[in-house]
Amino acid sequence: MKRTPLIIDTDAGIDDALAILLAMASPEVDIVAITISSGNCSAAQGIRNVRGILQLIGSGNIPVVKGVEVPLVQPPVFAPETHGETGLGYAKLPEVSIHSNQKHSVDLIIEQAFRYQGEVMIVTLGPLTNLALAIRREPAIIDKVKKVIIMGGAIQHGGNTTPQAEFNIYCDPHAAHIVFHSGMPIILVPLDVTYQIILTQNHVQRLLQVDSPVTRFVSDSTRYYMEYHKKYQQIDGCVINDPLALALTFKPDLVNTRKLFVDVDLSSGVSMGKTFADFYNFLKQKANMSVALNVKSRVFIDLFLDRIVKLATRNLQ
Ligand code: BDR
Ligand code: CA
Repeated sequence: MKRTPLIIDTDAGIDDALAILLAMASPEVDIVAITISSGNCSAAQGIRNVRGILQLIGSGNIPVVKGVEVPLVQPPVFAPETHGETGLGYAKLPEVSIHSNQKHSVDLIIEQAFRYQGEVMIVTLGPLTNLALAIRREPAIIDKVKKVIIMGGAIQHGGNTTPQAEFNIYCDPHAAHIVFHSGMPIILVPLDVTYQIILTQNHVQRLLQVDSPVTRFVSDSTRYYMEYHKKYQQIDGCVINDPLALALTFKPDLVNTRKLFVDVDLSSGVSMGKTFADFYNFLKQKANMSVALNVKSRVFIDLFLDRIVKLATRNLQ
């Protein structure tokens, strides 16, 4: 099987971690870089989180590189109440060493786009700061990326950070604006579909039938995430946004999409960071992305659990 070269850009929170595990469990993709943005936690903490996860599954050789520490214009926003102080809930990972002379995410995105000419996919699981700066620095990458799958936005769904805005876009709306209008082929995975993807305690119990570092990590990290969802959103379980976006790199038929013109509100008022789609073409603009509006939730959850069990079992041998 030809594997798709994949760059994962992440703000290293709990559902990001689940997405990375899903990627490691998926033979269809070959992770060629993990680039770190700030968001759920600081970019400095994010690099520790991702290295720790890779170490847990014995895949320490994937390049994980530091990214832009702050959004383009807005002050940084973190999410400790959702993802915990480290970004990974109650999970404890081994300390990892970080080299200071490593590459930068913006450079690595450009390098891999040139290396895998038209083949590479990018999945973004956090604010879009790194990708926006890569586009500004080297606009030629726009035609060299096969697809960008963006977890972000809320089209016909309420926000999860303000009444109108979703976290990843709210954190860096100016970066989102650059990426949305870049001409890159985009699939947007907004809260409209991710709020149909709920991981429950029963699902976690199913995973724990394999006693392994991977399943214990999933259990410890999501316990915190579930407490947050219960307390603030009255949801039993937790919304795992990022793994759905990741799964679309190899199974796009999990969602139905519609081609739409989508923009983001950059004003500094109550709707800053709101993503909106021009369903009736008032603005006479060409569609700039495909937006996921329906999802086969059961199919996704089964796929996710099966693959994590396989990864956990493999990890025991
Ligand atoms: C997004 O924000 C973060 O909390 C999650 O990791 C996800 O990427 C959902 O709004
Ligand atoms: Ca994320």
